[in-house]
Amino acid sequence: MTDNIQSIQNEAVAGINAANDERSLEEARVAFLGKKGTLASASAGMKDVAKEDKPAFGAALNKARNAITQALETKTKELQILADKKSVAGIDLTLPPRELAAGGLHPLTIIKDRAIQILRRMGFALADGPEIETEYHCFDALNTPHDHPARNEKDTFYFDGGKLLRTHTSSVQIRTMENNTPPVRIIAPGSAYRRDDVDATHLPVFNQLEGLYVDQDVKLGDLKGTLEYFLQAMFGDDTEVRFRPHFFPFTEPSFEIDVKLKIDGQEPKWIEVAGCGMVDPAVFSSISSQRGDQAFNPESITGYAFGMGLDRLAMIQWGIKDIRPLIENDTRFLQQFS
Ligand code: DAH
Repeated sequence: MTDNIQSIQNEAVAGINAANDERSLEEARVAFLGKKGTLASASAGMKDVAKEDKPAFGAALNKARNAITQALETKTKELQILADKKSVAGIDLTLPPRELAAGGLHPLTIIKDRAIQILRRMGFALADGPEIETEYHCFDALNTPHDHPARNEKDTFYFDGGKLLRTHTSSVQIRTMENNTPPVRIIAPGSAYRRDDVDATHLPVFNQLEGLYVDQDVKLGDLKGTLEYFLQAMFGDDTEVRFRPHFFPFTEPSFEIDVKLKIDGQEPKWIEVAGCGMVDPAVFSSISSQRGDQAFNPESITGYAFGMGLDRLAMIQWGIKDIRPLIENDTRFLQQFS
């Protein structure tokens, strides 16, 4: 009986060693070790073995199982190594790899982050508001009358039901004053939307950075000093800045701010970067009646506000003449900035 087992073992090990692919190896495993395999039927013979021979028979069975399992493992590894070798055969290890492109920040992100960093150092906190706004927050509360051209359907994206895509970040001024009491000193970067036709200087979506400072005794000189300091921190200490009288419904007096752009080989020219002014008392009155308290009573507080075009700042910073590449995601353009 034990001789028989020895010959099963020999046959199995020889069969396994002869297998030359995974499939024939699996067939050999099933034939010898499987439930209906040779070894299983041999162990079934245990019941016919004389009692005193049972231990020797059992030991022979174990030895055979171990030897067959061992042979299977060895062969499996061998076949794996062969398969691995085959799969890399023909690969040219001297071929240089494809270059890995490093990511970088978008120029608008770079400008926005720098602007935020400078203004935060000056004590402004970050604020935000929704891009889908009410007419109240975008216009009415900002002292903009119903017949103002900015409210025209030709200029503003309206939703059914009266909401709109904010036409400027100035709506965040209102949202901030609804929920805070003076002193308020915030900046709010974000997108704004207008129904403009696309050309080199206009996009229907663009980026602004709003600022608002409300406290006792805020003066025009504070506004001027703050924005001059900011623009010189952005573009260099020798940057020339000028304030031109203008009109905005929510500030009085109001100004547009220009910086002098000097590009080598070109006549320097003034470029508009922001609107600003002293918050119109009418805005404070409207907020006060909305809040139902005296926190923004125009008799006791004053404030200034400004809103600048971040796309404009980026165009000035890098001498970009066309605004469109800023939203086109062409890496040939974008990689110049990272
Ligand atoms: N909201 C104005 C615009 O989009 C810009 C602006 C002007 C913002 C004057 C202000 C401001 O806060 O005081 O054209």
